Amino acid sequence: MPEITVRGLTKRYGKVIAVDDATLTIKDKEYVTILGPSGCGKTTLIRMMAGIIEPTEGKVFIDGKDMKGVPIEERDLGYVFQNIALFPNMNVGENVSYSPRVKGKSPEEQGTTSHKYLELVKLLDKMGMFPGELCGGEQQKVSLARALATGSKLLLLDEPLSALDARVRVDLRYDLRRLVKALGITTVHVTHDQEEAMSVSDRIVLMRAGAIVEMGTPEQLYTKPENIFTMNFIGETNLIEGWVRERSVGLCKIELRDGSELEVHSCPYDTGTAVVVSVRPEFVYPFTSGLRSKIVSTTYMGTYWRMTAESASEDEIDFDVPVSDGHLYKIGQEVYLMINNKATVVFPRPHEGIAEAVKLE
Ligand SMILES: Nc1ncnc2c1ncn2[C@@H]1O[C@H](COP(=O)(O)OP(=O)(O)OP(=O)(O)O)[C@@H](O)[C@H]1O
Ligand SMILES: [Mg+2]
Repeated sequence: MPEITVRGLTKRYGKVIAVDDATLTIKDKEYVTILGPSGCGKTTLIRMMAGIIEPTEGKVFIDGKDMKGVPIEERDLGYVFQNIALFPNMNVGENVSYSPRVKGKSPEEQGTTSHKYLELVKLLDKMGMFPGELCGGEQQKVSLARALATGSKLLLLDEPLSALDARVRVDLRYDLRRLVKALGITTVHVTHDQEEAMSVSDRIVLMRAGAIVEMGTPEQLYTKPENIFTMNFIGETNLIEGWVRERSVGLCKIELRDGSELEVHSCPYDTGTAVVVSVRPEFVYPFTSGLRSKIVSTTYMGTYWRMTAESASEDEIDFDVPVSDGHLYKIGQEVYLMINNKATVVFPRPHEGIAEAVKLE
């Protein structure tokens, strides 16, 4: 029943704070992703969970047991390294059956295990080859198969799919989630890919500059984030500056920089508060009225056209139109944009400025 808790976990390298006071619990059988931009401390955090790196401060508990001084081999977990670390002198089959072998399982059982997981990652035909003869994506799949073959109920994966083609990555992430759910494995999966995190996780832990910014289900973080960084990092969003002009029950009038007005739902701030209204592109529609704007760029995205417009209030607003309507919009054209006011999230305007608040580091 592996449950993993970290409390006040901190790692310092001289003046660099790689992980800053992280506290969280990953429940038994839960699939949690640690998401965040490059350099935010994801690898350092998961390595401290695994026992590869010693924390400067704080503690790691697995099933309530303090892991201080317990090496990775004794933590009963499967681990996938970000920089794939296969045994170069063992072939693919031997790499995957490494854990059952050191546990003294029979040759037959070793063979069944490596067969099972190599089949999962679709590499049965490479069983006899050596890591040096495989491409990066194949090595990553072997690494994943080897971690699964440990048979342990706790899996720690550091960017396990990053070296794969976009298509394979998508297929394999669903297979991975299905498998660990079927086997009842507790999984911590590090990624910087927000779409990957959204699609596999029970819960996402979002990090920035060493610290945990916010945790929640993918839906919570996408629709009702508490932090403007989360709103901007997970999915795409428009950020419109304004002030609360008038508050009433349920609705709130926001004055924009050109004096125009935008009505939004659920804005808990007092009249006069400087705010940022955030709305995702899929909730902005061209209409006969709304925010007066001018198209500044049009991009063909395959399944839709992405339009970027600049409003009279000098906010940049992205919205999407169906492929069939793409020809209706030209750069320089004036449009009116309606905003679905139920889909807005209002944040107080950050003191450090919006750009600084959503910056990746
Ligand atoms: N051994 C080390 N010595 C000094 N600084 C380190 C060391 N390891 C990591 N850091 C620093 O700690 C920070 C966090 O690094 P970490 O590898 O945890 O980031 P990450 O979120 O995994 O990034 P990426 O997505 O690029 O893998 C970085 O600024 C990194 O330079
Ligand atoms: Mg990393």
